[in-house]
Amino acid sequence: MVMTNTLIFNSTFEGLVPSSTLFVNETVNRLWQQGEQVFHMGFGESRFDVHPRLQNALSSHANKKSYLPAKGLPALIEVVARYYTSKLETPFTNSQVLIGPGSKALIYGLQMVMDADLYLPSPSWVSYGPQAQLLGNKFNYIPSSVDDDYGLDIDALDTLVKASDNPCKMLVINSPNNPTGQVMSDSFLQELAAYCRANDIWVLSDEIYFQVCHGERQHVSISKYYPEGTFVLGGLSKHLSIGGWRVGVALLPDTELGKTLMQKMTVFASETWSGVSAPIQYAAIEAYSEHDDVERYIADCRDIHGIRTRFIREALIQLGIRCTEAQGGFYIAANFDQYKNALLALNIRSASDLSMHLLEHYKIATLPGSDFGLPKHTFTLRLSTSYLDMETEADPQRIFELNKTGISSHALMSIENHPATHAALLAFESFMKTLR
Ligand SMILES: Cc1ncc(COP(=O)(O)O)c(C=O)c1O
Repeated sequence: MVMTNTLIFNSTFEGLVPSSTLFVNETVNRLWQQGEQVFHMGFGESRFDVHPRLQNALSSHANKKSYLPAKGLPALIEVVARYYTSKLETPFTNSQVLIGPGSKALIYGLQMVMDADLYLPSPSWVSYGPQAQLLGNKFNYIPSSVDDDYGLDIDALDTLVKASDNPCKMLVINSPNNPTGQVMSDSFLQELAAYCRANDIWVLSDEIYFQVCHGERQHVSISKYYPEGTFVLGGLSKHLSIGGWRVGVALLPDTELGKTLMQKMTVFASETWSGVSAPIQYAAIEAYSEHDDVERYIADCRDIHGIRTRFIREALIQLGIRCTEAQGGFYIAANFDQYKNALLALNIRSASDLSMHLLEHYKIATLPGSDFGLPKHTFTLRLSTSYLDMETEADPQRIFELNKTGISSHALMSIENHPATHAALLAFESFMKTLR
């Protein structure tokens, strides 16, 4: 008798593929292993070495072997509350803090615990929407315009909010932003806070890049203006270049509802990941203790991201490519709509086609804006500026040390010091010639 296995897949997975950011990274790594030259602008990962203080802390805690409380190591929770109180100019107590294996898992947990409709700016980071889909939650992209540099339009949000019959609503904001690099202004955040308070909308404020603001605009957290309705999400992945350590934090409101939410999130944590790795949590205490040397390192990395991002952005603008004003993080959203006819003539009908074309013919890896919720017919790509000339393990330290010598931005970005960046820009130039 032939045995058959019955396997019924959960329908919420329908149409979902592995996260595009991780997928493009694996594709580029495979091409590199085959000896191909690829300009990796598809993955946003800060590549600098782990700060020696953190490396030492991790090795000296390697023997920490017991399970820790699901909510997080109390000593870590304490420094996190203090750190965010000082950095965001908003008081946080220990009871408001939850530690998780990366902010991604915490964002998923919040979406699971709440039966909320989700409102996402377009474009938005690739994982919020698929997470909502996995949970069977409704999510809406808020229409935006490239002419407004994709700014969040409160009127457009209001139209969607009014059309919904779910009284529980959650808006996601992300400043500095992935994929646009934009930083929301203080006055806009005040306006948004007033709107959300008046309309009973929770705000999930993804502030994972807040230590990577390299433009004129300073980071402001909406929690300052709307503490009772804001969930602040953060972690160590971006400003300390330790995405692989998997440390994320959530700071929930100091209210009765916030406390209930924390209890439910703790249930979620205890029934899934149990607790973040013990040695990592002990070492993370050093990351949140505001040591001068660690703070200096964060500032140096931020400056380098800024110099590289500005250089690439200005060069692309010179080539006739429209780019968002990138003031934080290591991303630029580049738009090619003005070349629509030339693109169609090349049989490029979507951002996804454009991204494939650049990879196949010019060896430039990017991500299509459609992965970030932009309409498919919009020719927008997300370009990461963190990987070029930082491909090997030695490159980031070389650039870090060079910057420390006090070298000018111009000299830092010379062809000698940034050959891959110059080569990638030449490849873009060749492509642009085909659109004229
Ligand atoms: C906007 C944004 N939010 C959240 C994350 C998740 O970061 P982690 O899970 O490493 O904390 C990322 C990572 O790429 C991101 O770009």
